[in-house]
Amino acid sequence: MIRSEIIGTGVFLPETIVTNDALSRRVDTSDEWIRERTGIRERRIVRDGETTSMLAVAAARAALMDAAIDAGELDLIVVATTTPDETFPATATTVQSRIGMAHGAAFDVQAVCSGFIYGLSVADNFIKAGQARTVLLIGAETMSRLLDWTDRGTCVLFGDGAGAFVLQAREGEGTIKDRGVLNTKLYSDGRLHDLLYVDGGPSLTQTTGHLRMKGKEVFKHAVTNIAAAIEASAAQAGLKVSDIDWFVPHQANQRILDGTAKKLGIDPARVISTVAVHGNTSSASVPLALQTALDDGRVKRGDLVLLEAMGGGFTWGAALVRW
Ligand code: UT7
Repeated sequence: MIRSEIIGTGVFLPETIVTNDALSRRVDTSDEWIRERTGIRERRIVRDGETTSMLAVAAARAALMDAAIDAGELDLIVVATTTPDETFPATATTVQSRIGMAHGAAFDVQAVCSGFIYGLSVADNFIKAGQARTVLLIGAETMSRLLDWTDRGTCVLFGDGAGAFVLQAREGEGTIKDRGVLNTKLYSDGRLHDLLYVDGGPSLTQTTGHLRMKGKEVFKHAVTNIAAAIEASAAQAGLKVSDIDWFVPHQANQRILDGTAKKLGIDPARVISTVAVHGNTSSASVPLALQTALDDGRVKRGDLVLLEAMGGGFTWGAALVRW
């Protein structure tokens, strides 16, 4: 059985750090409120002229270097983003040209904060179907460009950044001992559009629009949906949730991470959290959090790692990976 093994990872964060205190000089908020309600201490924000594709290219280069391959060996680029450089073409094709790949295919996936999990599923299925051998998957966002900087209910929550995986086909045994992606579970419910959306777009308003969110209601759905996705992924692999070594959640709010862990009886020490220093970077948050745990030695070769996310749409999902 063909498995998609993750042979390289890379991330990129913009240089500028914006603290809660800095935000409290812009809107009526405080470091105390933001920390208590979200766990966020600071976030990175792009400088003028710095775009999603620039972050994506930097993360891609790091992942290619980690995998020790060059762009010529890639068959496909998938970029998960909700903040593309342009309405079209896809940011993935911009990345394709910047990394010097003149063949294959490149396209974007739009699933907002679940984009990296959706993209991982797409990449895995292209590989399993034999349509691609080596895939570059990137989650990259400049969420700061979508925010209403006068809305304290949303502007304190998000940050910018990018993370990338290089996936490659390997022959596996078809058991959960195989390295690589073991399964992906994707869900959406379009009826919940109004809880989290952007009030603009080319067809509707001919503007980019701003992010709008009913935070409390999103919060309630988040814990339930994410817990169900984790259980479904574990069950499909014939595992108990307690068999999984590490949980790498989308980083929206520390209270969502804690609530999900509590609901499923997960030891909080097994949950990778970087929300304090990244904020919510949408589709970049899972690879950014995972990189931290790879770099500090928590996640090791052979570990069972559960990646999960939820975002606008609503969309949500989980992926089980043997590292
Ligand atoms: O990435 C995908 C999805 N996004 C999420 O998962 C986000 C989910 N939601 C959340 O994380 C939380 O609901 C928030 C962090 C957004 C809000 O926390 P909350 O505990 O649900 O607060 P709330 O919205 O009920 O607001 C409580 C109070 C309100 O004041 P009143 O009406 O009680 O007087 C807000 O106006 O806090 C006020 N408030 C703020 N105060 C200071 C809202 N934002 C702020 C702020 N600073 N930044």
